[in-house]
Amino acid sequence: MPSRILVASASCSFWMLFLSFLLILSTLCGFISGYSERDRAHDLMSKYPLIDGHNDLALRLRILHENRLSQIDLHNVSKVATDISRLQAGHVQAQMFAVYVLCGAQKKDAVRLTLEQIDVIRRMCTEYQEMELVTSAQGVKDSEMRRKIACLLSIEGGHSIDSSLPALRMFYQLGVRSMALTHNCNTPWAESSSTLYNDYKRENNSLTHFGKAVVQEMNRLGMIVDLSHSSWDTARAVLKLSKAPVIFSHSSSYSVCNHSRNVPDWLLQELKKNRGVIMVNLHSGFVACRDQANISLVADHFDHIKKVIGAESIGIGGDFEGAVNFPLGLEDVSKYPALIQELLQRNWPENDLAAVLRLNFLRVFEEVERVRDELSGTLPSEVLIPLEKVQSPCRMVLRPPGTGGDRLAPSRAHHGPGGPESPLILAMVLLLSSLFIVY
Ligand SMILES: *[C@@H]1O[C@H](CO)[C@@H](O)[C@H](O)[C@H]1NC(C)=O
Ligand SMILES: *[C@@H]1O[C@H](CO)[C@@H](O)[C@H](O)[C@H]1NC(C)=O
Ligand SMILES: *[C@@H]1O[C@H](CO)[C@@H](O)[C@H](O)[C@H]1NC(C)=O
Ligand SMILES: *[C@@H]1O[C@H](CO)[C@@H](O)[C@H](O)[C@H]1NC(C)=O
Ligand SMILES: [Zn+2]
Repeated sequence: MPSRILVASASCSFWMLFLSFLLILSTLCGFISGYSERDRAHDLMSKYPLIDGHNDLALRLRILHENRLSQIDLHNVSKVATDISRLQAGHVQAQMFAVYVLCGAQKKDAVRLTLEQIDVIRRMCTEYQEMELVTSAQGVKDSEMRRKIACLLSIEGGHSIDSSLPALRMFYQLGVRSMALTHNCNTPWAESSSTLYNDYKRENNSLTHFGKAVVQEMNRLGMIVDLSHSSWDTARAVLKLSKAPVIFSHSSSYSVCNHSRNVPDWLLQELKKNRGVIMVNLHSGFVACRDQANISLVADHFDHIKKVIGAESIGIGGDFEGAVNFPLGLEDVSKYPALIQELLQRNWPENDLAAVLRLNFLRVFEEVERVRDELSGTLPSEVLIPLEKVQSPCRMVLRPPGTGGDRLAPSRAHHGPGGPESPLILAMVLLLSSLFIVY
């Protein structure tokens, strides 16, 4: 074989070798850099695991399983976006679980249903060793040390307390640490952002005298006031009144998507003055104002809110199980790292992200507890809602005869003396009068 050809083939194989070396190197680099961005998100979330503001798994458990926990394995639940495996994969260390009962239960059995939802969340969080119920900021931190998922109970909708401060206090005793003042329905004392329901419409009185008493009592108890679902007017009134920081547990930016469930910039400014946080909702309808969204649009909400009030006012409130459409790449609770990765790619510093993931919420919770401690000398509020504001046949009102009439229930006024339950009412009146005569 002539030596020239030999040289040529040798140099040829050298170049081929070199080229394939370059090729391998570049794929390796891409591989490494692609991975490192993802790894950075996971590493950050391992150090600062997420405290998420809103999840409606308990509602799904009622709809799909009538709250029968024995029918499912919470590690892996089908037809939902939340279970223990996916919470762990998504670095979700604490979850505010919504205690939500439908607005249709207002004036009916909302209080019973609320108790049942509290029961199912408490069961879920005690029957699985990976989870535990917590009721304080310290509890959230302790449970992180133990590598557990901390469950926080949060009532979604003031209709759950049936306009009763004693009921509110008893929910606190059961472990409830936050309450959204309304869901999609007005209550007799606060206004919803939604006009879906017509009851309790009001003008210029978005937070009534009783509504103010609810907020003050929540401050006294150390229960976080949640303004998601409230009207902007109600939110403004609460922000003026509350001694403690408040949260929007699952709302996004109105400037980015003009949905009434989102928060306009002027209200964000009020929230900043209050030192509260807005936990950004991931539901496509609130992110993009339509059914389809992507992670980039979600990140736009974070960028905008940061620009307006700073990263120290932001958290995350996914709203999984409450809403149906979620952005591509954020379909379930295991996907949160993809959002953090996007924000890292947008040059969010790691300390900002640590704040968004958990430190801001912990700061708010601790401040709510501090206000509670400052108010520890204040007695429980005895403010009552005026009876005419809560007319409903489900209400039994006991009063001594002669004080405010011998009326037992407002329903009597509707049915009149010939109404179907009048013999019963008469019997009760007689029974009660005898009681009051004796004592
Ligand atoms: C969950 O269960 C489904 C089938 O029911 C199975 O395909 C899937 O691998 C399970 N996932 C985990 C994380 O165990
Ligand atoms: C509500 O307030 C607006 C503006 O302050 C006023 O024009 C309107 O008359 C008020 N409505 C009622 C029912 O008081
Ligand atoms: C929201 O914005 C869209 C366009 O971006 C506009 O068509 C619509 O009227 C706006 N809605 C409200 C309530 O301002
Ligand atoms: C996300 O969605 C928006 C609006 O539909 C679109 O303009 C944008 O290109 C999408 N971004 C990515 C990364 O897909
Ligand atoms: Zn909601």
